[in-house]
Amino acid sequence: MHTTVGIIGAGPAGLLLARTLHRAGVDCVVLESRDRAHVERRQRAGVLEQSTVDALRAVGAAGRLDREGLVHDGVELRWEGRAHRVDFPSLANGRRVRVYAQTEVVKDLVALHLADGAALRFGAEARSVDGADTGRPTIRYTQGGRDRTLTCDYVVGCDGFHGVARAAFPEGIRRTYARAYPYAWLGILADVAPSCDELVYAHSRRGFALHSMRSPEVSRLYLQVPHGTDPADWPDERIWDELDARFARDGWELARGPITSRSVLPMRSSVTEPMRYGRVFLAGDAAHIVPPTGAKGLNLAVADVVVLGRALIRHRTTGASDLLDAYSDTCLRRVWRAEHFSYAMTTMLHTDPAGSPFDTRLQIAQLDRIADSPHAAAELAVNYTGLPLP
Ligand code: APR
Ligand code: PHB
Repeated sequence: MHTTVGIIGAGPAGLLLARTLHRAGVDCVVLESRDRAHVERRQRAGVLEQSTVDALRAVGAAGRLDREGLVHDGVELRWEGRAHRVDFPSLANGRRVRVYAQTEVVKDLVALHLADGAALRFGAEARSVDGADTGRPTIRYTQGGRDRTLTCDYVVGCDGFHGVARAAFPEGIRRTYARAYPYAWLGILADVAPSCDELVYAHSRRGFALHSMRSPEVSRLYLQVPHGTDPADWPDERIWDELDARFARDGWELARGPITSRSVLPMRSSVTEPMRYGRVFLAGDAAHIVPPTGAKGLNLAVADVVVLGRALIRHRTTGASDLLDAYSDTCLRRVWRAEHFSYAMTTMLHTDPAGSPFDTRLQIAQLDRIADSPHAAAELAVNYTGLPLP
């Protein structure tokens, strides 16, 4: 089987790229190792930048998002008994964010793609990508217990941090920059109305906590926990008691409800350069990982495929390869900005187990500065709401 663009992975990056290309008449095939139910229920991020909303709308995938997404004009920071709201429109040129779960973005894109009869193959696990430096890169994959081959004009690895596409880049070409963090997040979904209208990021000497939401009826919360934490060691009451301690603020109470899901998320930063080798491209988590504190992972994936989709369509319709040749550099500028912002938010808000009281005082000084300086608050607001797409 042959296609113009072979896409590995049906997460947000692969699905949005496929829809973009399909609507432009560029032939593509998506190979996804898991089944549809697994892909659609994976709990991930929940904050969309305006650029991400615009990109979904551009491919006709923002209908439910417009109806059900929650528009947020700010976030609250809490520390040392203080609380400070960072307002987005006044500090970030009118920009705001939308709270809408990644699971819903994926469901919307899958439904549209399948409704169009586009080539989206579940249970199709890519084993290797060969011939990256030839005019005919090839994906070898298994589906239905059989080994299969997909020859392509281009291959795009949208297969996440654990994918196979990166291995198509020769060792001497590929450079990976990474940082591990000495903690993780325990994330929960609870059937209880959010106790706040906007997200609350809490620094506490017991550890970081985040209050987000999925709808007016469902709360999404996170607790900093040690590496290797087993969710089974955290029964409901222990979770709620710890969240109470970390969010503590006079006159504010955290509502409790049944916890319907709990999982531990690792924290890491990672960037692979370049994001292209020959006719093989990387997009989204396949190329870069950010700690979730800055809510950048989904938005970076979308930005990559907006740039790549534009470049592939230009090349197929005009023969010009200028945008394709610039893809990696164009995306990496934005990626490194988001990497720094995510690192800065993470180290400002989390309690390092090996940290000293001096480190804690530095964190408090950073948070005080955001509350006291419109310039410092604007830097957070502009990065959080996202820089305009290239
Ligand atoms: N063959 C086929 N599919 C694969 C393979 C493989 N060898 N390896 C991984 N996949 C699939 C995964 O099952 C997953 O559906 O690739 C997809 C990668 O999707 P994501 O990990 O969601 O990555 P991406 O689309 O870049 O979206 C980034 O997702 O993980 C979050 O925090 C991240 O919000 C960010 C967003
Ligand atoms: C979420 O709602 O899942 C979420 C929100 C903000 C973050 C991380 C996760 O920084």
